[in-house]
Amino acid sequence: MNGATMGGKVTVVGAGFYGSTTALRLAEYDIFDTVVLTDILEGKSEGLALDMNQSRSIEGFETKIIGTTTTPEGAGYEATSNSDVVVITAGLPRKPGMSRMDLIGVNAGIVRGVAENIAKHSPKAVIIVVSNPLDEMTALAQIATKFPKNRVMGQAGMLDTARFTNFVAEKLGVKVGAVKTLTLGSHGDTMVPVPSRCTVNGKSLAELLSESEIAELVDRTRNGGAEVVALLKTGSAYYAPSAAAARMAKAVIEDSGAVMPVCAWVDGEYGISGVYLGVEAQIGRTGVVKIVEGSLTESEVAALKQAAEAVRAKQADVQTL
Ligand code: LAC
Repeated sequence: MNGATMGGKVTVVGAGFYGSTTALRLAEYDIFDTVVLTDILEGKSEGLALDMNQSRSIEGFETKIIGTTTTPEGAGYEATSNSDVVVITAGLPRKPGMSRMDLIGVNAGIVRGVAENIAKHSPKAVIIVVSNPLDEMTALAQIATKFPKNRVMGQAGMLDTARFTNFVAEKLGVKVGAVKTLTLGSHGDTMVPVPSRCTVNGKSLAELLSESEIAELVDRTRNGGAEVVALLKTGSAYYAPSAAAARMAKAVIEDSGAVMPVCAWVDGEYGISGVYLGVEAQIGRTGVVKIVEGSLTESEVAALKQAAEAVRAKQADVQTL
């Protein structure tokens, strides 16, 4: 906990497990004046906000949490006005056996409506989308808000990378802090874990694990969300996802310049253009300050290009949803 409120307002749209956990993490950072939590279920976000505020004296943070009920038509959005950062978690999560892409039809309508209402009330906000299918919902939020592309990004790479890191640490019996991993590409079947950029205490992963062991961890990472969904039976993961989204919002409000894997608009990097895709980017007050083109092997670049084409086709579809 920082203990030093630096100000600013962040809104989290959707008070499900992902949204409410994100709101609490953001409040506990104690760097915002206000965290607004919204939901269409009447009273839900108000109740959660009340509960979270009552934890402040125990946890020692001053950030005020405001809960507000919204409607798809736009009622209630006044409470979100002039947010600096908005995290959109609205939409349905997966059920066991579903792919993220199965959600595209229903979530497109929800995310479009939310994004339009947010744009009306917080025209200068940086938007962080977490609704699934992630890459497509991020593209849609940019279309619906008409915001500059740098001010709309999606959360996926931070989460997938954290999953990969956890699996590597467990496999080798080392601290997670000793492990560095990276995943790029889509938050789905064309996720691109990047073993060449993975190290353990500075040693390359290839020196420590066999090719097939790495492939196994990569595969588990790619299916990391589904593994949790299958165990939970209702709903999807939220502890690691909310940690990732909250860190991105923190980097924005602190203008930290931290480099993170995020879903960002790619414009020429790696020879890829005109698509929202998981890449490394420097995050600051304007959202994506710049895409950081790291060194990848030829096959990793090829996989990234393949991911770009897969999500490009789907992102074209969302324009009409
Ligand atoms: C996951 C969902 C949140 O990967 O996309 O767990």
